Amino acid sequence: MKLVDLRSDTVTKPSKEMWDNLKSLDDSKIGDDVYGEDPTINALEEKAAHLIGKEAALYVTSGTQGNLISLMAHTNPHDSVLVEELSHIYRNEINSATKIAQLEVKTYASNKGAPDLDKLFNLINKIQDSESKLRVLCVENTHNYHGGAIIRPHILNTLHKLVEEKELKFHLDGARIFNAAVATNTNVIEFSKYADSIMFCLSKGLSCPVGSLVAGSSQFISKARKYRQMVGGGMRQAGIIASFGLLALDDNWIQRLKEDHKNAKSLAKGLEAMELPIQLNVPETNMVIMTLPEAIRIGKVIRRLGKEGILALPIDSTRIRFVTHFGINRDDIKYALKKMEIVLPSVF
Ligand SMILES: Cc1ncc(COP(=O)(O)O)c(C=O)c1O
Repeated sequence: MKLVDLRSDTVTKPSKEMWDNLKSLDDSKIGDDVYGEDPTINALEEKAAHLIGKEAALYVTSGTQGNLISLMAHTNPHDSVLVEELSHIYRNEINSATKIAQLEVKTYASNKGAPDLDKLFNLINKIQDSESKLRVLCVENTHNYHGGAIIRPHILNTLHKLVEEKELKFHLDGARIFNAAVATNTNVIEFSKYADSIMFCLSKGLSCPVGSLVAGSSQFISKARKYRQMVGGGMRQAGIIASFGLLALDDNWIQRLKEDHKNAKSLAKGLEAMELPIQLNVPETNMVIMTLPEAIRIGKVIRRLGKEGILALPIDSTRIRFVTHFGINRDDIKYALKKMEIVLPSVF
């Protein structure tokens, strides 16, 4: 049976060029990265730092690890950090900030990931008036659970001013920051320049098998490197997996994300045309969120779609997420819509 896997852009596999590049590696291209001696990782970190407009970057095992060590590098145990209430850090990172970094994690509400400035200002005042030591504001961009929503540079600029005024650090969970840049035809630096630190993933739409990067000042990265070691992220001859990232950060590969965005728009348009009692986001990047009436059991909907080869994931009890990526082309979207046209009307 044909499968159209729309669960996540993390299911992507490398391009042919990435595999070919891997074959060109030899002993001279790898070394012990804990000693800073892996030329491929060093090249990747340099390329990433340049691209994102920061002094330095660090290759880490995952986005989760990148967020954790960024928070550790900005704080001391018992400090607090402020994250969005539907953010990956808050919802999906198994409380690592609390359990490992010993931080108090506080949340703010948002409109598609972007906080209301006055409310945020008051919340920060309230926290700073209390005992806890607030150190970091985190923003997720694009925002996963808000359907790949983009937080525009002018909003990041305003947040940056607030963060400076309140003497905080600004961490950007930019797991999909290149989706934001490409969708708005903006240089990624316009998004990253307001943040003290940014994490972005190679293993999502950029289709690498493993890895993320953290970027910031040289001082921040040397601290982050120490914390990476602490959480077991020193990987020795990891140039073998990091090599995929060197090609993933080429402009032509980054621009390919536009195809995913087009496909997400086609999917949303096709679903809308079915005139079902569902709500859909207007996809800004590579995610379509379908909200179903509360009476519908979405587990059943996902199972029925799965039986037809269309894979998706729930976000909560009423929302299903479909993600487009390198493994999905226009024909796959047409095929998925045909199957959805059979399955979806039957669940209402
Ligand atoms: C917004 C966001 N941040 C961080 C992560 C964590 O990345 P990883 O799965 O590499 O740990 C994800 C993963 O999906 C994500 O969507």
